Amino acid sequence: MFKKLDILDEKDKHLRMKSVDAEFPLSKDEKKLIQRIIDHLTYSQIEEYEKKYDLRPGMGLAFPQIGINKRIIVIVHEYEDGKFDNYVVINPKIISNSEEIIAAEAGEGCLSVNREVEGHVPRYARVTIEGYDEDGNLIQIRAREDLSIAFQHEIDHLDGILFYDRIDKNKPFYNEGEIRLI
Ligand code: NI
Repeated sequence: MFKKLDILDEKDKHLRMKSVDAEFPLSKDEKKLIQRIIDHLTYSQIEEYEKKYDLRPGMGLAFPQIGINKRIIVIVHEYEDGKFDNYVVINPKIISNSEEIIAAEAGEGCLSVNREVEGHVPRYARVTIEGYDEDGNLIQIRAREDLSIAFQHEIDHLDGILFYDRIDKNKPFYNEGEIRLI
């Protein structure tokens, strides 16, 4: 039975705290929460369930957003129409990045930010992430384009950073040519 997650709003203090490394083995509760996040994010991106359960579409969530300041992120990436890849990374780190900077042309959204925030968020076009899977195995993931943006957005949550912190207040929009808009 699907149960919608309670996702904290940006005003909650958990969203502004620096999270600590998770320890292995993960607890049963932590593993259950990871599965619930995967279900929630997947359903939120399938129109039928999005409506049925009244979900806001989102592709990523970090543990602080459910009130747990541990370094765990989940991304459910629709890489092709109706096809999803799940990424669960424990204690993720960006170990290398492209020089090229991109931004989502339509701006970014966040399941903890329940309002429109306009502006481009500069992000690396490509990143390599190192971290651990749920069983404690070391993993590396190379991400580009929207998936790269998602990883940077979620890892920011672990450091108490929200996407709009990275929007330049004096110049919120870039022009084509300054950075690549996707
Ligand atoms: Ni977010």
